Amino acid sequence: MPPYLRLVLAALLLAGSVTVAGAAEDGGEPSEDELYERPYIGQICGDNVVSKQLYNGARRYGNFCHRCHGEAGLGSSFAPSLVESLKRLSRDEFNEVVVNGRENLAAGQEKVMPSFGHVTDVMLYLEDIYMYLKAVSDGKVKPGPLERCPS
Ligand code: HEC
Repeated sequence: MPPYLRLVLAALLLAGSVTVAGAAEDGGEPSEDELYERPYIGQICGDNVVSKQLYNGARRYGNFCHRCHGEAGLGSSFAPSLVESLKRLSRDEFNEVVVNGRENLAAGQEKVMPSFGHVTDVMLYLEDIYMYLKAVSDGKVKPGPLERCPS
């Protein structure tokens, strides 16, 4: 691009009128950071029609997390809604809790998030599980059955 355009662009960025994080929402290329936090971008091809990776993430969620965190991570009396949690937790914070677990012994409660650091089928597919939950949290996938994109 011509140098003067670059200057205009730099000025717009500085003025905050163009945000890089918003690029994906505007239909532009998502930044690396955006893709890290929202790995489901590019993995959804229709209403609840998703890539193999996202599909498998949902399946593993069902195997390992559903019994406490409920249907599609919406929460239950045993454990909080991960759909809500992911509105404030970063991907790294999410990973940290899943790997190390957490105990909340406040006020006599006994709510324990088990640690999955030693569970190979969770550790190998942590990105897929996160991808599924983040897609639901962002309203890009709805609770309920998923189908695979045609390959
Ligand atoms: C035995 C029940 C149980 C299972 C199974 C379980 N969790 Fe949890 N999880 C909990 C409880 C209880 C908490 C809340 C702990 C607390 O209050 O600190 C929690 C908290 C979390 C949090 C932190 C939420 C926040 O708002 O800070 C994340 C993330 C999480 N779980 C992810 C998962 C994932 C992913 C799986 C499956 C791989 C899973 N959990 C399986 C019980 C469970």
